[in-house]
Amino acid sequence: MEDLLTLIRDRAGDAPVATGLILGSGLGHLADSVDGVAIDYADLPGFPHAGVSGHNPKLVIGDLEGTRVAVFGGRAHYYESGDPRAMKLPLEVLRALGAEELILTNAAGSLRDGMGPGELMLLSDHINFSGLNPLIGEPSDTRFVNMTDAYNRDMRAALDDAARAQGVTLHTGVYAWYSGPSFETPAEIRALRVLGSDAVGMSTVPEVILGRFLGLKCAAISTITNMAAGMSSEVLSHEHTKAMAPIGAAKLEKVLRAYLSRG
Ligand code: HPA
Repeated sequence: MEDLLTLIRDRAGDAPVATGLILGSGLGHLADSVDGVAIDYADLPGFPHAGVSGHNPKLVIGDLEGTRVAVFGGRAHYYESGDPRAMKLPLEVLRALGAEELILTNAAGSLRDGMGPGELMLLSDHINFSGLNPLIGEPSDTRFVNMTDAYNRDMRAALDDAARAQGVTLHTGVYAWYSGPSFETPAEIRALRVLGSDAVGMSTVPEVILGRFLGLKCAAISTITNMAAGMSSEVLSHEHTKAMAPIGAAKLEKVLRAYLSRG
């Protein structure tokens, strides 16, 4: 860990980072908007080999709208390795660089009629439908993390304000984590609707659990790329996710920029 921090600070300087951003499928290009230094994950020992197409596997540290950010252009998913702790080291690094808050983005399917492809949803809460937990095996009582208000109320209010100021509709809802990599069945989606989910995706939840464990304030926004399985005639595929994500990404970028510029 110390070696990693030295390597990062040698390249990017040692001014503390304020905000971390993890970018989801088809959203990785936002990393290129940062005025700063990009380091490939391949140069960061222990960082995941982000093997999912549509991700941009680099860490960019620099200025975005007057805030010093660390942007993770890609994430490792549980379904790549079977390890729900896949993003633990990057998040530990983020915390050690001084970050106090983390904003996660993801591509997700909608379970709510009236929230369609290209729209954005701010997470108010999540359902860990996978039942996996990245804190299993943590040795001390710090593993008993409180997950009430895991999605920070102040950050949510500020993101809502940012969206309103930009004229962007930001829905609010509950995200269910499905392990992937297969998509859900229509029966699973019907079950998730009954359980109170508004969107479904294959990421974010383990990172929010780890983020809260590390003391990071967390917020997350889904870019809706499709109606979930069985809710429309479109055929779900990763190609479709990557093709649709940029539509929401443009709005997401506006919201994130407005949020970061609020001073
Ligand atoms: N299900 C799971 N993950 C997803 C979806 C979906 O429908 N769309 C984008 N990511």
